[in-house]
Amino acid sequence: MSDTMDETVETMFIQHFQEESRPLAYYLKSMDGYKTVKKAFGMSQDDIIGEMKKSWLRGRGGASFPTGTKWGFIPKQSPKPKYLVCNADESEPGTFKDRDIMRYTPHLLIEGMVIGGFAIGAHVGYIYIRGEYAREAKLLDEAIDEAYEAGYLGKNILGSGFDFDLTVHRGAGAYICGEETALLNSLEGKRGEPRVKPPFPAQAGAFGGPTIVNNVETLASVPFIIKNGGDWYAKLGKLEKSGGTRLFCVSGHVKKPGVYEFASGSVTLRQIIYEHCHGILGDKKLKAVIPGGSSAPVLTADEIDVIADIEPMSKIGTMLGSAAIVVISEDYCIVKLLRRIAHFYAHESCGQCTPCREGTRWMWDIIERIEAGHGRDQDLQLLLDITENVGMKTLCALGDAAAGPVASFVKKFRADFEAHIRGGKCPNA
Ligand SMILES: Cc1cc2nc3c(=O)[nH]c(=O)nc-3n(C[C@H](O)[C@H](O)[C@H](O)COP(=O)(O)O)c2cc1C
Repeated sequence: MSDTMDETVETMFIQHFQEESRPLAYYLKSMDGYKTVKKAFGMSQDDIIGEMKKSWLRGRGGASFPTGTKWGFIPKQSPKPKYLVCNADESEPGTFKDRDIMRYTPHLLIEGMVIGGFAIGAHVGYIYIRGEYAREAKLLDEAIDEAYEAGYLGKNILGSGFDFDLTVHRGAGAYICGEETALLNSLEGKRGEPRVKPPFPAQAGAFGGPTIVNNVETLASVPFIIKNGGDWYAKLGKLEKSGGTRLFCVSGHVKKPGVYEFASGSVTLRQIIYEHCHGILGDKKLKAVIPGGSSAPVLTADEIDVIADIEPMSKIGTMLGSAAIVVISEDYCIVKLLRRIAHFYAHESCGQCTPCREGTRWMWDIIERIEAGHGRDQDLQLLLDITENVGMKTLCALGDAAAGPVASFVKKFRADFEAHIRGGKCPNA
């Protein structure tokens, strides 16, 4: 964190996203590294949670739940140990921001976890990382070793009397293990299937102990908040109840894809796509935008003047989710795109809940036959009926994540589906 941070600051992470930023020496010198944890040790647990509440940091993993409120759910007294778990599964298609945090600023995440552990009274933390992020897992291990050696992890951190151990746990590449209770099962060595809730992790999470599960970006934001105060962070956001800055992952048919950082609520989708990402490849027309990872209901080209933040997106029937924006140009087949998305969810369903296990497979089959030119007139209604029977009918949100795109694609791009059915092939083929 630089000293130049003030109310006009619009970015906190992105200027450090370079190879040179990774070592502990850089973190200490150029980001005031591990000074904030020292400050946190001088605060009470309630004060830290109070600052988190004031900050209006909302979870960056997809559900946008206020982090301070979540931390406040942890019981003060517990017969079982408490845990802090970082969700680094990052499997939502289109999402790749947590990777940059772990790759370039691992100590920011570690410091955020020590502060979080202290605030909730956890002495053990885990970073559950997706198996495919082999490089980032190794880099995190190295950063954790550096932190232990320098006394920022382990026993009696900085003479505070507080102990905190941190371990990287590698997943095996399953999307469902990003769902927090499936993640906890996997962490415990069990099958990665979501649990029945309640109890929620804050009551009974890892190994039955009170547990907080937070996303990488969420936890890496904590040092900024505790250093500068909750009010400061809240004011960075341009809308009520949405503080700080956000990392956006932009991919698809834009000229300049990548990870971008903007103050929450400060930009529209149109500005991101046309001003920051320099518009559509080949200067073609925009066809559609998936605004928050593949689970987010799709938007048409006419809907991109929406502010890219939690409430404005929700008002128009979609979601900011993991802030992964996938841009689709006019000449890409919408049916093919939905078939690929539907295949993903059918493949990743854990199979525990019948509506999800069966419904995701049926949706994929039907979209595949429409794409191949074998669709029937009644297939579009059938697809919509299936979405009604999958969404909100399962133990976890994977069912909703699978149903939302199908319903929105069929409703908003019906003509494209009908053209495939009537013409017996893709009109663009
Ligand atoms: C199927 C599914 C996959 C998920 N994948 C991720 C993921 O990869 N990373 C993540 O942080 N949250 C993921 N989540 C959300 C987590 O369950 C949980 O809400 C999040 O880790 C909480 O952290 P936050 O409050 O900091 O956002 C997923 C949820 C579902 C239903």
